[in-house]
Amino acid sequence: MANRILILNGPNLNLLGIREPEVYGTTTLDELIATLKAAYSDHQLTHHQSNHEGVLIDKIHEYGFSADGIILNPGAYTHTSIALRDAISAVTTPVVEVHLSDISQRESFRQKSFITDVCAHHVMGKGPQGYHEAVDFIIQHAGKLS
Ligand code: DQA
Repeated sequence: MANRILILNGPNLNLLGIREPEVYGTTTLDELIATLKAAYSDHQLTHHQSNHEGVLIDKIHEYGFSADGIILNPGAYTHTSIALRDAISAVTTPVVEVHLSDISQRESFRQKSFITDVCAHHVMGKGPQGYHEAVDFIIQHAGKLS
């Protein structure tokens, strides 16, 4: 059965490929999303990127009662946003937290995530492949998580 999945990327992720390539790699966001959509062409993947916290929250509200899953890389809002955490808690669609880098091994201010414990799953430090793992998780668990 085809699953409806929102991929949601937060601030500065529009600069993937250019931004600190030694940390985040050389794959651009367009390439990452195109590869993901091609790999999961049997499913309905929608992508949004925003540099604005409120827009990310609006998207979680918009998809969070109807989609089968949300894959969220909130960028630096991971470490600051209780509002984003509350949005994830408010919706019924499972959210998978993804980070390209391994935030547990980076600066101390990145080691705290306000969202991990309200997400169904998290993947970090696996680069673009982490998004594939997140999609796999949603497909495997679709309808089985609340
Ligand atoms: C990130 C990690 C965050 O700490 C950082 O602010 C980002 C990207 C990652 O994907 O590794 O913008 O979420």
